[in-house]
Amino acid sequence: MTSEATEPAGALTLHNALVDDEARTLADDVREGLTAEFKELPPKHLYDTRGAELFEQICELPEYYPTRTERAILERVAGELIAQTGAAELVELGSGSATKTRLLLDAMRSAGTLESFVAVDVTESFVRDSAAELLREYPGLRVHGLIADFERHLDQLPPPRGPRLLAFLGGTIGNFAPAARRRFLRSVCGLLGPDDHLLLGTDLVKDRATLEAAYDDSAGVTAEFNRNILHVLNRELGADFDPAAFEHVARFDTEHEWIEMRLRSREAQQVKLAALELTVAFEAGEDIRTEISAKFTRERVAAELTAAGLVLAAWHTDANGWFALSLARRAG
Ligand SMILES: C[S@@+](CC[C@H](N)C(=O)[O-])C[C@H]1O[C@@H](n2cnc3c(N)ncnc32)[C@H](O)[C@@H]1O
Repeated sequence: MTSEATEPAGALTLHNALVDDEARTLADDVREGLTAEFKELPPKHLYDTRGAELFEQICELPEYYPTRTERAILERVAGELIAQTGAAELVELGSGSATKTRLLLDAMRSAGTLESFVAVDVTESFVRDSAAELLREYPGLRVHGLIADFERHLDQLPPPRGPRLLAFLGGTIGNFAPAARRRFLRSVCGLLGPDDHLLLGTDLVKDRATLEAAYDDSAGVTAEFNRNILHVLNRELGADFDPAAFEHVARFDTEHEWIEMRLRSREAQQVKLAALELTVAFEAGEDIRTEISAKFTRERVAAELTAAGLVLAAWHTDANGWFALSLARRAG
């Protein structure tokens, strides 16, 4: 089912851009990532249904300040953002459970502009569940769920239904390596018309202890989330990883100003991936990098937006300066 311009108010449409395609990218990513000299797996593969549940738990942890800090900023400024943008359609990339999204939808409803919401996420359960819930909670809202990779499928967004606010929250932009981030921001710029805006959530540089605790909580939920990628490989690629044989590591890299999550092999071992007809050898202490999470400053956000053809229109942060929401539009 795909979205049609004639879709009535209160309708839900779903489109899966990943069919057939996703298994191939997992296989390609894993072969490339685990045969490289420095082993690495893209973080999007952390998010199967179990990974999505674990991420939800992470968002509630005392150490994981980004979610509650971004929510507090949104509570304060959602009305102002909607007044400034006049948005009728909210498109959320990497929407997850779309919890903070309600603050924007509420502000749009109060302003009388709310028409439609588009959820884009690689995790099917997130898209299906949040789309159905939002339809119930906002009678008359048009909801489109797009199960897709935001690095590859942005051309599959439905046509806009009015001024668009494209939200990319949660600091997810930090998961891109710098070159991929530049490509992504340029493609987002290409999506924006003169009446559209980008709302970007970025985690900010701060002290190492606060940062590292957020990615290595005392309850071990982030460690389980990190190891979940090995369960994904076991299930999807017939691999025989023993997740307990890998230690969760989270370190702030001060040179790059990003957190790295890694899985460190506790011993020398060999792992077979049957579907790839591949055996991978690990030395004791050897790492697989599973996620980077870049931390930003206002200057860096503004410079990267400018380089992508965008201009920073508003910057909102919390009293500690821990997290920021940037509103941007096309330059010129
Ligand atoms: C850090 S979570 C943020 C979730 C939510 N936006 C929030 O602020 O709490 C990242 C989200 O992006 C999704 N995601 C990760 N990589 C993706 C990709 N390449 N394409 C689409 N969604 C992706 C994940 O499934 C997850 O829901």
